[in-house]
Amino acid sequence: MVNIDYSKTKKFISDEEVEIMSKKTLEAKKELLSKEGAGNDFLGWLDLPENYDKEEYERIKKASEKIKSDSQVLVVIGIGGSYLGARAAIEFLNDGFYNDVDSSIRKTPRIYFAGNSISSTYLKGLEKAIGDADFSVNVISKSGTTTEPAIAFRYFKEKLEKKYGKSEAAKRIYATTDKKKGALKTLADAEGYETFVVPDDVGGRFSVLTAVGLLPIAVSGADIDKLMKGAQDARKVCNEKEFKENPALIYAAIRNILLRKGKSVEVMANYEPSLHYVAEWWKQLYGESEGKDQKGIFPASVDLTTDLHSMGQFIQDGARILYETVLNVEDAGCEIIMQNAENDLDGLNYLAGKDMDFVNKSAMNGTILAHTDGNVPNIIVNIPKKDEETLGQLFYIFEFACGVSGYILGVNPFNQPGVEAYKKNMFALLGKKGYEKEREELLKRL
Ligand code: PA5
Repeated sequence: MVNIDYSKTKKFISDEEVEIMSKKTLEAKKELLSKEGAGNDFLGWLDLPENYDKEEYERIKKASEKIKSDSQVLVVIGIGGSYLGARAAIEFLNDGFYNDVDSSIRKTPRIYFAGNSISSTYLKGLEKAIGDADFSVNVISKSGTTTEPAIAFRYFKEKLEKKYGKSEAAKRIYATTDKKKGALKTLADAEGYETFVVPDDVGGRFSVLTAVGLLPIAVSGADIDKLMKGAQDARKVCNEKEFKENPALIYAAIRNILLRKGKSVEVMANYEPSLHYVAEWWKQLYGESEGKDQKGIFPASVDLTTDLHSMGQFIQDGARILYETVLNVEDAGCEIIMQNAENDLDGLNYLAGKDMDFVNKSAMNGTILAHTDGNVPNIIVNIPKKDEETLGQLFYIFEFACGVSGYILGVNPFNQPGVEAYKKNMFALLGKKGYEKEREELLKRL
């Protein structure tokens, strides 16, 4: 099971502080599980690993088989919680090279993500990457009205219809959205697309274990039963275990102690490039859940050792506002033994016979100690291996910890009022109906 080692924060926090905060986490957990706290109409994710729509789950598997059989490419259109979980999973489970593996080996469609920016060059580039390949689209938007995915969908819908004709194109479009409402639902019903549901009580950033994440993940060939099994196991641990054996509670407690000591930035560090998007998913989960009411911990991330040659300087030596959360993949899952070179001109023979992962872990351990010496507390998340079950655990533990942590902080972790401000300005500047007055004011300010 994924576990949390906070021994490298001990220099900065006392056992007494942990004891006091552990009580607060237990209260917050009680509030979460009683479903009486703030945002309690968005707690469907808590039981999702057990309590999911079994009929729809089978349809997800069937649709993924169809996509695998008739498409060389799947374009997944979505933003925020409607895309980061799937991307994190596909990268994590495929060493970051999913699309690059020859199709004779991979045997599943290439998967591209769109609708997470408004870049015309990105869409043109993606169109080029798809080329003549047969493709399908999974458009994902809980609200069904988000501008970025809507624009990308309009673009690729037209491409599909041009390539296959309207009725065949409709069979290649899968819409994941609200059960009843929203423009995407209306469009999907009108055009006859297969639809999947984002449950009412599951917010975007907590939706990776619904069709939002599961359909693209299944298309990549991953075993979603194992992903759900991992989440089920973690749910049991998070719900039932006492503080000392509960990774979600430990994580929530330590980060809140550190915040109260002025550590207002949490830097998630990985030593495996394929975990880059796990950190992106985590940033969205925590940033949107906790950053409100002028409170919160700013979630940032670095890829190490890459960024030790850039951000490493700041972490070691800059403003002491940081703590670090290190993702440690215990079993790299492969072995590269360093070879002996006859002349040793590069001076690396001292590593001959050593596994490259030993070198990576030595860099990690050395960095943890150096950063701790530089007064950056380190929390270590031990991830036994890179498989579906472990990822299911990781997703659930971080989600559970996020709910608990938000309640300790005193915010509603399940809303995102701050996301609306930019949209209002953008719509006004674009001349959308109903925003005339705002538009006038904004134009004066520009
Ligand atoms: O977590 C959230 O609620 C958000 O990040 C949403 O996932 C994101 O804004 C996309 O929204 P939608 O799925 O409605 O297009």
